[in-house]
Amino acid sequence: MTSAGNLLVLNGPNLNLLGLREPAIYGTATLDDVEQLCLRVGDELGYSVECIQSNHEGDLIDAIHAAREGCDGIVINAGAYTHTSVALRDALSAVPVPAIEVHLSNVHAREEFRHHSLLSPVVSAVIVGAGVNGYRLAIEQLAWLRK
Ligand code: DQA
Repeated sequence: MTSAGNLLVLNGPNLNLLGLREPAIYGTATLDDVEQLCLRVGDELGYSVECIQSNHEGDLIDAIHAAREGCDGIVINAGAYTHTSVALRDALSAVPVPAIEVHLSNVHAREEFRHHSLLSPVVSAVIVGAGVNGYRLAIEQLAWLRK
């Protein structure tokens, strides 16, 4: 298969603890499981996938900036920064690459402060509450957008 391009899968704060962290909310899959899934789904669709996780806002911003060069799509679960970070939103706005926002949990069924995302207005689509499968759906959506 010819290469469909390069994708960046970006996971934000506390997502390194997936599998250990509040499994009743976030499930038992680990970050490694999520990243392996993304690599596999990307491969099925002809993408080369880079996965980055950071607990630091600036690292996430740097990764988004780097996506200006040669990246064809971003999947982002910004964790709690979703609800607080104007800087991450500005970074996504600054990069002309389609981005899909993912949340494992259904943030709308949780605390009020999780109902609002600063990122949603500047991404192409939002997938919430589908658990780990949300990452698969996001990659499939990026592939669909290319057609
Ligand atoms: C989350 C939802 C956020 O509200 C929370 O801060 C997270 C994870 C999710 O994947 O459901 O860290 O992004």
